[in-house]
Parts: sequence; structure tokens; C-alpha cells
Amino acid sequence: MDFELNETQAMVRETARAFSDRVLRPRAAEFERAERIPSEVLKEMAELGLMGVNVPSALGGSEAGAVSYALAMKEIARGCAATAVTMAVTNMVSEVIAGFGTAAQRETYVPRLVGGEYEAGSFALSEPGAGSDPGAMRTTAVRRGESWVINGDKQWITSGDRAGVFVVWARTGGPGTAGLSAFLVEGGTPGLRVGKREDKMGIRASSTVPLVFEDCEVPSSALLGVEGGGFKIAMMALDGGRVGIGAQALGIGEGALDDARRYATERQQFGKAIAEFQAVQWMLADSHAELDAARWLVMRAAWLKESKRPFSQEAAMAKLTASETAWRVCNRAVQVHGGYGYTREFAVERRMRDSRVTMIYEGTSEIQRLVIARGALRG
Ligand code: CAA
Repeated sequence: MDFELNETQAMVRETARAFSDRVLRPRAAEFERAERIPSEVLKEMAELGLMGVNVPSALGGSEAGAVSYALAMKEIARGCAATAVTMAVTNMVSEVIAGFGTAAQRETYVPRLVGGEYEAGSFALSEPGAGSDPGAMRTTAVRRGESWVINGDKQWITSGDRAGVFVVWARTGGPGTAGLSAFLVEGGTPGLRVGKREDKMGIRASSTVPLVFEDCEVPSSALLGVEGGGFKIAMMALDGGRVGIGAQALGIGEGALDDARRYATERQQFGKAIAEFQAVQWMLADSHAELDAARWLVMRAAWLKESKRPFSQEAAMAKLTASETAWRVCNRAVQVHGGYGYTREFAVERRMRDSRVTMIYEGTSEIQRLVIARGALRG
């Protein structure tokens, strides 16, 4: 077993860490207040190669692998979780198009996504009545001559108000998962309307919007993969996406532990730093150990993906463990800060709110357990 990072992985991690420390950590509260990640921040991330970490260099990506991607995601989330989710979905969309697209689709969209011409990409799977169960989706795509006409509603679409391209799932055939296909829809296509931003508990600088498709016509060349093959594309994309959200959760947790450690050594009570009290040490120790365990689950899942081995189960275990760990670690970090931790003056309350969604999006903890249980029962 080799736990060392290779040169590329170490370099990607350093690049992401330096950017996160210089730009994101000092400005995350400002981004949250403005409810927006500035365009120039996303542009700089693209220039640093962070929008296509695991995308072939022939398409403008960094081609640094899935482990490098997880490391970069963790570092970005340490600075700003909202920026991290924008990066996560854009990387996922880039990878999906690079993996399943035709040569023309790959060459049209991937360089724009990873190079920053597009601010973001969006993944439009969920609907008001189809979240955990995408097989219940009602959006349809119907052939009309050389086009597809899409009608329906999408919900919870990350970066939907600033995406250059959307991967949109719609029903082209019968009921259930076998009747679904995926399409590439450009931002601004007539018939695609972006709804009002959700007023969320956390990751408030990242936008989450509903989409309405009303006779939205796209060319037949917009079909991604084969007709009826959309559900499998979504599941494979989500396997990778879950490693990314696991890494995001880890980054949020690591950031909260850093904050708690710093505060505990500075804050004096009863004549000494509170870090000298066992009550505080045990909170830090539990957080440290639990994050380390989650880290190896995330890295193993990323390594399996990079090694082109099956990793659905491991991605689900990584995401479940990292997201639930991040929540506990943030909660303890707030506790270490006492009353100050409950105010906006310190980052831990934001980190706690931001961490909560990692147990929900990219598949809830319950869906991760369902995936894990299926594997456990198979033996
Ligand atoms: N890889 C490849 N194929 C897969 C697969 C995977 N990981 N998982 C399932 N499939 C295939 C199955 O083999 C099966 O194929 P056949 O029909 O050929 O046998 C087909 O897909 C149907 O599979 P299931 O019967 O297992 O499907 P299901 O309806 O029981 O659903 C599920 C399984 C795991 C519950 C799935 O629906 C799921 O993951 N739900 C959660 C959805 C989710 O994560 N949504 C997140 C939204 S995106 C988001 O949050 C992004 C963001 O903005 C941050």
C-alpha cells in the first residue's frame, strides 16, 4: 500500500490550497453576504486548471486524475464551501461530456467549461416530484423532425442561473429508469426559463434554482449518449460526484477543526488556554480521528475511480461518512467557540450551515445507505 501523493497530486493540492488561503478563506463571508461568487474568482479557478482536474488535456483539462480532484476539492471547500460546490458540479459536467459525448459535443463544450469561457456547468436531473427517485421523472423530450422538444420542471439546480451548458434528463420512452435520456442544452436556449433562487440555510453564495422547460427545442445532436441510456449516465456521473461531495465535506470539516484548534489555543478561561482542558482536547481529538477515517474513505474511492475499478459502493461509503463526520466536527467547533461560535463573527457557524447539505445533495445519506446495503446484502 502506498499512502504517498505523487508529484502531480501534491502540486494540484498545493495550487488549490494556496488559492483557497489567498482568495477564498478571507472572502467567504463576503461572498455569502453578496449571495454570489464573483465571476473573476471562477475565472481564476479555471485558469488554475481547477474546473477540469480529471479531464483530458486534449480538451483543455488538467488530466491530473480523480485523486488530485478530491484533494483540490477538499482544499477549496476549506476556504469556501459554496465555491466548492460550483467547482464540483462544473467538473462533473465536464467529465460527463468528456466521457459520454460525441467528438463534436466534447470539442464544443468541454474546453469552454474547463477554460472559463462558461462560468459553470449544471446538472439538471432532480424534479419537484423526483429527487431520490429520478426514475419517476416527468420531464419529456419528444422528437420533432431533426429536433427534440423538451417540456417539464427541474428543481435544485446548482448554478442554473450562470451555467453555459446544462446536462438535462428527460423521458424519451416508457416509464421507469429505462425511458430516460440525457441532453446538452445551452444556457439561454429559447424555452428554458430560470426560476427564482432558493433562500437556503447554507452554501448561500452558490445559486440553486428551478428550471422550466416550455417547448424548448434542441437539435438531434444534443442527445448525450444513446436514447434510453440517460439513467446509467446519471448514475455513473453521481458515483464520481459523490466522491467530490465527500471531499467537499472533508474540506468543510477540516476548516472547522482548524478554526477550533486556533480558537482553543487563544481563548483563556480559568487562567489558561481552553485547549489545556481535557473537555476541549477530547472534542478536538474526536474530530481529528473521525476526519482522518473519512479522509481515507474518500481517497480510496477516488483511487478506485482513477484505477478504473468499480467504486459505487466505496463512493457511497465515503460520502455518507464524510458528510456525517463534517456535521459532527462543525458542531463541536461551534461548541469550542462557545457563545462566539453562535455568531457570524466567526466562520464556524457558516461552516456548520454549509456542511448540512452534504448529507442531502448528490444523494441523501439514506440513498447512500441504500446503495451500501445492496452491496452488503450481495456479500
Ligand atoms: N452505475 C451504472 N449503472 C447503474 C448504477 C451505477 N452506479 N446504479 C444503477 N445502475 C443501473 C442498474 O444496473 C440498472 O440497470 P439495468 O436496468 O440494465 O439492470 C439501472 O441502472 C436501474 O438501476 P436500479 O434498479 O438500481 O435503479 P433504482 O431506481 O432502484 O435507483 C438509486 C437506484 C441508487 C436509488 C438511484 O435512483 C439514486 O442514486 N438516487 C439518488 C439520486 C441522486 O443522487 N440525486 C442527486 C441529484 S444531483 C445533485 O444533487 C447535484 C448537485 O446539484 C450537487
